Amino acid sequence: MRAVQIERFGGPEVLGFVEAEAPVPGAGQIQVEVRACGVNPADWFVREGGMGGGLPQGTGFEVAGTVSRVGEDVTGVAVGERVFGGMLFGGFTAGAAQFAVLDFWARMPEGMSFEQAAAIPMNGETALRILDEVGVARGHTVFVNGGSGAVGQIATQLAVARGARVVVTSGEAKAATLRGLGATVVGYGEGLSERVREAAPGGVDRVLDMGPGGQLPELVALAGGDPAHVVTITDFAGADALGVRASGREGTEFRFDALETIATAVTTGSLSVPVWRVEPWENVAEVQESIKSGTARGKTVLRVAP
Ligand SMILES: NC(=O)c1ccc[n+]([C@@H]2O[C@H](COP(=O)([O-])OP(=O)(O)OC[C@H]3O[C@@H](n4cnc5c(N)ncnc54)[C@H](OP(=O)(O)O)[C@@H]3O)[C@@H](O)[C@H]2O)c1
Repeated sequence: MRAVQIERFGGPEVLGFVEAEAPVPGAGQIQVEVRACGVNPADWFVREGGMGGGLPQGTGFEVAGTVSRVGEDVTGVAVGERVFGGMLFGGFTAGAAQFAVLDFWARMPEGMSFEQAAAIPMNGETALRILDEVGVARGHTVFVNGGSGAVGQIATQLAVARGARVVVTSGEAKAATLRGLGATVVGYGEGLSERVREAAPGGVDRVLDMGPGGQLPELVALAGGDPAHVVTITDFAGADALGVRASGREGTEFRFDALETIATAVTTGSLSVPVWRVEPWENVAEVQESIKSGTARGKTVLRVAP
């Protein structure tokens, strides 16, 4: 099969196409013939060696495609079915390939495209997981720091649907989109706490942090001083220092049930998971760099040629 491979850790130049053996699904896994692969900030982070692991490595954490092999102990899914899903951190992440092995998946709803489905697994699972981890509920005011991106837009919609009020940070370009999702938007940067307090004069009950890091003391203060009311998916060191929950690392209880919930909500129109652009997978390096540099204006999905 054709696959994107990283021979050594580094910049976009280390991404290359190779001929490789198709990966074999182990117990509890399935192999899919990949049609689309979602791209995430984690992809360039892993490519640069941020997660370590052996070499060569693949790239890409989430895909949609057709089941081509089923591993031992797997029930409820058959060869030929259209599924979407992903790989766990620490595994061999190799979604940008003609065949990939998945650790978790769900059946694609009727009428959903492979490109749309491939945009859901990582961001959908993360958003639902963190909302539940800090118990976002009706009547809460939730502050989503760094929430103008893919995870934040889903988290915002899920929180609003629960009856929470959402205040979210955004740059100019995505502010109107977030307002359209029902959130109050504040700019990030200096003076953040003042702007949040002005937007939420009754106080903030819960904080979801997906910002660039280093802001947790300020965020805990915004949540009334209780670190249990804050969760971060980006600042693990800061979380350890303050007793804040760091979600997504080893020991996390992942919410794979989110895939079906989110896909159904997208199909019925109650949730929007927009795909900003679809690119041929040959453009994987440029796409990863657009995310790293912040020029990407939304979720990008790679179309993987059969
Ligand atoms: N631990 C986990 O389980 C887990 C899972 C998924 C993702 N993540 C991490 O969560 C983060 C968000 O992921 P994503 O997929 O949503 O990324 P994304 O779609 O690339 O969005 C990133 C957002 O960050 C915003 N941003 C940039 N600089 C900022 C600043 N100084 N303050 C506040 N916001 C700023 C950007 O806002 P503007 O465009 O408005 O400027 C952009 O919308 C990434 O770091 C990712 O690695 C962690």
